[in-house]
Amino acid sequence: MSNPSLLILAGDGIGPEVMTEVKKIINWYGEKRDMPFDVSEDLVGGSAYDAHGTPLHDDTMAKAQEVDAVLLGAVGGPQYDSLDFSVKPERGLLRLRKEMDLFANLRPAQCFDALADFSSLKKDVVAGLDIMIVRELTSGIYFGEPRGIIEEGNERVGINTQRYTESEIARVARSAFEMARRRNNKVCSMEKANVMESGILWRDVVTEIHQAEYPDVELSHMYADAGAMQLCRWPKQFDVIVTDNLFGDLLSDAAAMLTGSLGMLPSASLGAPMANGRPKALYEPVHGSAPDIAGQGKANPIACVLSFAMALRYSFDQGAEADRLENAVEKVLADGLRTADLLGEEGAQPVSTSEMGDAIIAALDASL
Ligand code: IPM
Ligand code: MG
Repeated sequence: MSNPSLLILAGDGIGPEVMTEVKKIINWYGEKRDMPFDVSEDLVGGSAYDAHGTPLHDDTMAKAQEVDAVLLGAVGGPQYDSLDFSVKPERGLLRLRKEMDLFANLRPAQCFDALADFSSLKKDVVAGLDIMIVRELTSGIYFGEPRGIIEEGNERVGINTQRYTESEIARVARSAFEMARRRNNKVCSMEKANVMESGILWRDVVTEIHQAEYPDVELSHMYADAGAMQLCRWPKQFDVIVTDNLFGDLLSDAAAMLTGSLGMLPSASLGAPMANGRPKALYEPVHGSAPDIAGQGKANPIACVLSFAMALRYSFDQGAEADRLENAVEKVLADGLRTADLLGEEGAQPVSTSEMGDAIIAALDASL
């Protein structure tokens, strides 16, 4: 049997730096755990635009469809702000999500004990936090038609459309219920059924799937604005949150910050199973390309490292090895290692991106 295949798309800004550390870890698994991966690399985002005039070359898209998992760094940067909308770096990422049909975006927000003091919220609000946001990723207002900027009378009108079919809602609801069964068996669904028809349908379909297929899971509903408030007030009331593409984008950034830093949080974007039984999958940190600190060795590689841990768990059925990697991250944090994003104003000396990566490798070695 051939080795599992990975396509690495490091992207822009801090993407390549954090991915360098992940590549060390991939090699470690090959050498020390006898888990070799066939790794190929390609361009996405601004770097693809610079090389090919498009944020995602068709050949790259085709490769992404064939591999067992895609690992992505980050896309975007100020030098691309003035580009036409259709070739902006973000379009490359959105095309990958859409064409691979990665409808379920898993965004865990976990607070490591060592960082509980660092959250902008009180320690008792965040200590031990472990929630999972399941964000719909291939539909809703991100992709709905009609869209555009049109002329109407003597002014311009910006148009986007929120659109969800029953089957789109049903499949992501199932992902959320399945996830809940593996965790604390609770789902909270968030929409705005008080103002949006798509929200009414969302609530109906989630309720129908629940009654028909997952009556054992505890289900509640919340308006998304109230959900944002509750996330800040008492986030530990949640286990799994399921929500649409745009609300999920907002709520997951907010949830990420509860844990101390956006530099910590991984994500998995999963689609339907392929012929080999593995889901179509792309793994990426929740953070962006952070152009202000790019190239300086300041970036925190942990979100990207933990994204690879999610790949081990969800694509390669290596839950124990994913635990090993997550424990290694927990160990270096407990030992006091901090990249710059994890230090307050007058904090101690931060470690660099590569020092953090090396420390995680050392902790992996120590785990054997
Ligand atoms: C995210 C990002 C993306 C999104 C951007 C880069 C297109 O914010 O993954 O959360 O809006 O989905
Ligand atoms: Mg976002």
